[in-house]
Amino acid sequence: MKATAIAPSNIAFIKYWGRKNQSLRLPENGSISMNLSNLQTTTTVEFNTSFIADEVIFNGQKETDAENRITDHIKRVRHMANIQMKAKIKTENNFPTGTGLSSSASGFAALTVAAVAASGLKLSEKELSILARLGSGSACRSIPDGFVEWVDGDTSETSFASSLYNPDYWDIVDVIAIVSNQKKDTPSSMGHALASSSPFFETRKHHMQEKVTLCKTFLAEKDFTKFGELLEAEALELHAIYLTSLPSLIYLLPGSLQVMHMVKKWRQDGIPVYFTLNTGQDIHLICPREYQKKVVDLVETVESVQKTIVNEPAIGTRLISTHLF
Ligand code: DP6
Repeated sequence: MKATAIAPSNIAFIKYWGRKNQSLRLPENGSISMNLSNLQTTTTVEFNTSFIADEVIFNGQKETDAENRITDHIKRVRHMANIQMKAKIKTENNFPTGTGLSSSASGFAALTVAAVAASGLKLSEKELSILARLGSGSACRSIPDGFVEWVDGDTSETSFASSLYNPDYWDIVDVIAIVSNQKKDTPSSMGHALASSSPFFETRKHHMQEKVTLCKTFLAEKDFTKFGELLEAEALELHAIYLTSLPSLIYLLPGSLQVMHMVKKWRQDGIPVYFTLNTGQDIHLICPREYQKKVVDLVETVESVQKTIVNEPAIGTRLISTHLF
């Protein structure tokens, strides 16, 4: 019983930050994202009666922690499938881990789809999204295709993501500027619990539904300027929450700020490009595809930028027939 899945990471235009239920990972608000074609996790899971313990190989390294988020997720699948067999899990990312490029989104989406198939369970896209959410909130958005909405919901059964549009709906790209490979001090999974300590979090909560609605309207109208202004303001608000949490969370590095200043300048020069960031220093630059080359050329001139990764909107998580072991 072996299966392999490949999953995209995703970039949220409207972010998930803060949870109304920590253990179920029910978010304080709904969110909107796009799957990314070039940030991928591939995961093979095998359940076998001959295995005596769960074994995890992450980016070529055997995990030494006997209990971790990955094995916790495998336990959920075992419980649902009503099986006892131990599992071998091998997982690989084609991009840096732990720097804010949302590797937990692609990681738990791939793990969910591979483990469910390997266990013999047959789940719908909605059920897969719910299960992925229990591993990592943002992973529920990497299950469906293209442009995706995660509805917050009040219960586990009502908190899941679904596709708003297929990947070819809108020809926009995400040029990621890597400014450092430094790992963040506080991972998102811990940061969420600090959100409500910011004095501005109540204000944020009150307008999140409106932001989700606006984002969906601008997507429907393909109004790139309004869409860009909204996603950039949302990223800055997220970082305002980080900076004012107790203890504070400071993810921006000098290189991140340098790119942010340049993006504003490029816009003044007539280039339609807006930035967004997650829990980390690397910056996502969103622009129409016809400006991709121009934006890549410009961003590569910025001193602090080490590398760029260009992404187009992508399909969600799927099974593949080539296994990692
Ligand atoms: C800033 O999904 O990584 O990227 O549920 O604890 O795994 P866990 O958190 P995670 O948080 C993502 C936070 C974010 C915003 C977003 O992707 O919506």
